[in-house]
Amino acid sequence: MRRILVIGAAGQIGSELVPALREIYGSENVIATGRRTPLPEIITKGGPVIYLDALQKDTLSKVIYERDIDTIFHMASLLSATGEKMPQAAWNININGLLNVLEAARSYSIDRIIWPSSIAAFGPSTPRENTPNETILQPSTMYGISKVSGELLIEYYYQKYGLDTRSMRLPGIISSETLPGGGTTDYAVEIFYEAIKNKKYTCFLKEETRLPMMYMPDCTKCMVDLLEADPSKLKRHVYNVTGMSFSAGELALEIQKHVPEFKIDYKPDFRQAIADSWPMSIDDSLARAEWEWNPKYDLQKMTKDMIDILRKRL
Ligand code: SER
Repeated sequence: MRRILVIGAAGQIGSELVPALREIYGSENVIATGRRTPLPEIITKGGPVIYLDALQKDTLSKVIYERDIDTIFHMASLLSATGEKMPQAAWNININGLLNVLEAARSYSIDRIIWPSSIAAFGPSTPRENTPNETILQPSTMYGISKVSGELLIEYYYQKYGLDTRSMRLPGIISSETLPGGGTTDYAVEIFYEAIKNKKYTCFLKEETRLPMMYMPDCTKCMVDLLEADPSKLKRHVYNVTGMSFSAGELALEIQKHVPEFKIDYKPDFRQAIADSWPMSIDDSLARAEWEWNPKYDLQKMTKDMIDILRKRL
């Protein structure tokens, strides 16, 4: 059985990844770590939780050693919009955090590392429709620059030290448990809360802005599937993945099928330029071919599920 360390467990993905991993690998085998207090209950009630800052190298090594860790999910990151407000901090957290994890992993012979990249690795010169796995990576945001650098770094650690590093370029993630923070795709989560609570939403992207997205159950499945993929079948370390693509206007229309009174207006801010530099849709055929990536949720199914869950909760 794996002994898994999840760094950044209190974030949008971590807070649902940890319970999903505990289901599969056993509660005691999944150590959730974070810096944010209070940690969400969904994390604290289900298994071991400790404080960990990936920038503190010694503490990181201590945890890996004492908890007998063999697998790491490194989820701690500043997202695109925060990254543009604090570019130096984004570089520090995203790159020095990853470097510390890779270094500790090398010292303690970690079996496997999952570190998510992002569609932010692409940029204005990348083809925006059906963006291929292997293409131009010239992002215009600090977040994107940290993701491309991270992709090169994990490849380097594989080539030089034989570390089994794996990564997927995540699109915007839609989820009902923990709100994202500081991203450009955050609107696609906020809109649901506002539709249920206030029946209206002001979107910070234009109506026609189309971006690739994925629903959380597919995201956690994606993480586990790539972790467990047979190494002999993987021909690369970074994979495009996607669940669906829609514009802000299309999402609003889909929500109106469930909440007919829902109204939306559009006041684009600085995040519009970030969205305009990213793909509108993603070609994830290599992930499908090499490790049978197969998402289950499209726009209709995801919207219905989000509305059902949030209606009950709010
Ligand atoms: N969700 C992220 C963001 O918007 C993209 O990886 O920054």
